[in-house]
Amino acid sequence: MNNLSNMIKVAVVGGEGIGPEVTAQSHRVLNWFAARRNVPMVLREAQYGLIPYLATGKVLPPDTAEAMDEADAILWGATGGPETKGVPAAARKAGSLLSLRSKYDLYANLRPIVADPALADSAPLKAEVLRDVDFVIIRELTSGIYFGEPRGIETLADGQRRGFNTEQYTTHQVRRVARAAFELARTRKGRVCSVDKANVLETSVLWREEVIALHAAEFSDVELSHMYVDNAAMQIVRQPSQFDVMVTGNIFGDILSDCAAMASGSLGMLPSASLGPVDKFGRRKALYEPVHGSAPDIAGRGIANPLGSILSVAMMLRLTLNRPEDADLLEKAVGIALAAGARTADIAESGATRLSTEQMGDAVLNALEQVASKEKEHA
Ligand code: IPM
Ligand code: MG
Repeated sequence: MNNLSNMIKVAVVGGEGIGPEVTAQSHRVLNWFAARRNVPMVLREAQYGLIPYLATGKVLPPDTAEAMDEADAILWGATGGPETKGVPAAARKAGSLLSLRSKYDLYANLRPIVADPALADSAPLKAEVLRDVDFVIIRELTSGIYFGEPRGIETLADGQRRGFNTEQYTTHQVRRVARAAFELARTRKGRVCSVDKANVLETSVLWREEVIALHAAEFSDVELSHMYVDNAAMQIVRQPSQFDVMVTGNIFGDILSDCAAMASGSLGMLPSASLGPVDKFGRRKALYEPVHGSAPDIAGRGIANPLGSILSVAMMLRLTLNRPEDADLLEKAVGIALAAGARTADIAESGATRLSTEQMGDAVLNALEQVASKEKEHA
């Protein structure tokens, strides 16, 4: 039995839209790792969104805030969609995902883009474009135009309205996310591509200068290149296999990561991790979530793809739970399920049987059992 004080705390927050459905499956996967692999964690489930708002007046009620505050890792489902209409803007903003990213200072957002050859037939890009795609976008997540002040909408003297936002980055903000990119590249193919718009924007000029300075001072063993964001959008669909680690600011990363989803075959497959700074005890707050969002058009129908959420658990095993071999095991199990033809609607080639969200969860759990028992045989 694990000692309670060694237990890593995980908050499980399904949220809104398809969030609760997909998170129910990744929760089963977490339970499997706790029970079968003795991963030392305590799970605490909490509610977020319209349901707690109706009961308590808060989208993020105190119980959920507490669960998230004390957690080492948060498994997050999704937020948004028509449910938001039942909640006044101020109440929504008070507990928004953006405010959580800011509250926990989750500045480094890792979005790995890997194309599984099993999905080549259902992917919108050609199989030859998807060959060998395996890169990570590191998006700065707590600054830039998302958070810059001043911001607002004002009425001018002539009656016109004017909306304005502020793009901004400081040395520290650029350097810490660039450091995360260089460190990650050292564990991979050793290449970082920094994406900016330095031909137009001062924030990007600063971004590029700081990335270059940090590289020269500490990471000259890593290969560094720079790309303008418009070109990067094109290169991601032209030849995504050229990238290893891509690092960029908040809004560029938002846009490029949706674009890059197509280089993986499906948005439903993509996991993410958002990491905070390492504290004096060596702990690092992290939030894990699928990239896909709330998908209101299919919410409640039990057909969403849970693999983005399940693969986010693999990232949690690797980055928070410090169990790289279990992370490998889970990624392997997902690969086995896909190779055996398990498909939810979003990744189904025409004629393929379409599994429900829960059946896809079953397929991954069966594959986990299979890989785990094989491992035992070989042990
Ligand atoms: C994402 C999403 C969010 C963002 C939205 C939901 C605010 O698009 O995580 O990519 O823009 O950061
Ligand atoms: Mg986005």
